[in-house]
Amino acid sequence: MLIHLTGHLVAAEDAKVSVFDHGFLYGDGVFEGIRVYNRRIFRHDAHLLRLYRSAKAIMLQPLPPVEEMKRAIEDTVRANEMGDGYIRAVISRGPGDLGIDPRKCPEPTIVVIATGIALYPEEVYEQGMECVTASTRRSRPDVLSPAIKSLNYLNNVLAKIECIRAGVPECVMLNDRGLVAECSADNIFILSRDFNGQTELRTPPITAGSLEGITRDTVMQLAGEIGVRCVERDIALFDIYSAEEAFLTGTGAEVVPMTMLDQRPIGDGKPGPVTRQLIARYRELTHTEGEPLF
Ligand SMILES: Cc1ncc(COP(=O)(O)O)c(C=O)c1O
Repeated sequence: MLIHLTGHLVAAEDAKVSVFDHGFLYGDGVFEGIRVYNRRIFRHDAHLLRLYRSAKAIMLQPLPPVEEMKRAIEDTVRANEMGDGYIRAVISRGPGDLGIDPRKCPEPTIVVIATGIALYPEEVYEQGMECVTASTRRSRPDVLSPAIKSLNYLNNVLAKIECIRAGVPECVMLNDRGLVAECSADNIFILSRDFNGQTELRTPPITAGSLEGITRDTVMQLAGEIGVRCVERDIALFDIYSAEEAFLTGTGAEVVPMTMLDQRPIGDGKPGPVTRQLIARYRELTHTEGEPLF
């Protein structure tokens, strides 16, 4: 396996980062998780935009021009002849001294890894997933914005530990107001029905304390194409318990039906028709969008 390390492709065993790197010492850096389908990088420009926005928010500089970063990612995929898989792009503050002062880190470390991905088994998409609500609250947006995809994922890791203890793959995380923010590594949508029988898809706004997911964005577009109204709106746990359907979205997970939360079946406890349609449309799109790299 070949890894891109700050301008060079090196063998995996030689891809080493300094113990003085502030990404390692302080989680000081940003990253992206990107998918390759059928030799195509899915929504590459959107991921680059989010990466550079995150970097700007933490004043991570100097950065290569975005086109150079894009080429580094494409070259890494080509060098590994990876037709389907997962890319991890990381930009850390780089090596400095033991203080947190970022001015001591003159050169960011850039890493691109192109590798395989452990997918959920197909039965999760067919039968749905059980989740619990984590007691760990999502980081307050006014303290450390969850919109920054930073290397500091401890908040999410603590929630993941709760999932593991509960024996479920994902969990719902609430924000400081007790409203739904997102999952430990995915965004969340519900399909709600009002008293007049009208249904709409709802997902929490970014200001609720969630990452601006690229799969979330894609699914919002796909919902429009299949004629389902989709709104960003605050969601409480009650809204999930009483929803007709619910699903998670993420680059790795794609679109996953959530059919049980805190031991309450959602809808009839099976993946609903809107979720199924979105799973199918998403799969179709991932395999056709973008130019084949090799
Ligand atoms: C905390 C969090 N929320 C949501 C997502 C989903 O985002 P995306 O669809 O861009 O992968 C991720 C995945 O990276 C994440 O880490």
